[in-house]
Amino acid sequence: MAKIAVLVGSLRQDSINRKLAQAIDTLAGDRLEFDYVDLSQLPHYNEELWADAPRSVLDLKQKIDDTDGVLFVTPEFNRSYPGILKDAIDWATRPWGDNSWLNKPAAVIGTSPGAIGAAVGQRELKTIVSAVGTALMAQPEVYFQFKPELFDDTGAVVNPDTETFLNGWIDRFAEWINRTGVRPEKLEV
Ligand code: FNR
Repeated sequence: MAKIAVLVGSLRQDSINRKLAQAIDTLAGDRLEFDYVDLSQLPHYNEELWADAPRSVLDLKQKIDDTDGVLFVTPEFNRSYPGILKDAIDWATRPWGDNSWLNKPAAVIGTSPGAIGAAVGQRELKTIVSAVGTALMAQPEVYFQFKPELFDDTGAVVNPDTETFLNGWIDRFAEWINRTGVRPEKLEV
């Protein structure tokens, strides 16, 4: 089963983006395994901090290195994505020559209470996620308008159309990782 490093762009406990990630996590069953990266302690990028690299930075790079793919789940903040995700992206491109994102299968999804479902924020984020060298899945897009009635008290999806849509996305992402992922055992061949 493909293991995914999940970066949620919201730090708040009640985040709807975290809820979307967890709903997909539940729905995925044995198709994808999610490993959530804690971004709450990540400092702003500062080259000087590499002299004694922060634990949060090393953990971030380790999780990306140890997983088969990465998933960004982003809110839209002022028609862009939150700064914490830019810091995470910048940190993991360094030290020079050790870019953790390179060739890593990736996807960007997100949600907002608004009708366009964080589409503009996702567009901006996709440009950067692609620029750092990931193998970014372009389709299907997940511009998800968050409505509480789509989920039950446990956070599981209850709306059948939503379930079908998210199940389709899970299958496509699993297939994308299988097709584009370069795992260590493949490199040794
Ligand atoms: C927002 N929100 C928002 N929503 C949107 O659809 N487009 C936008 O440009 C913005 N801009 C924005 C800026 C800032 C600073 C905040 C705090 C919020 C609303 C946002 O979608 C909503 O608060 C979500 O609940 C944020 O996601 P999480 O934290 O629930 O995952």
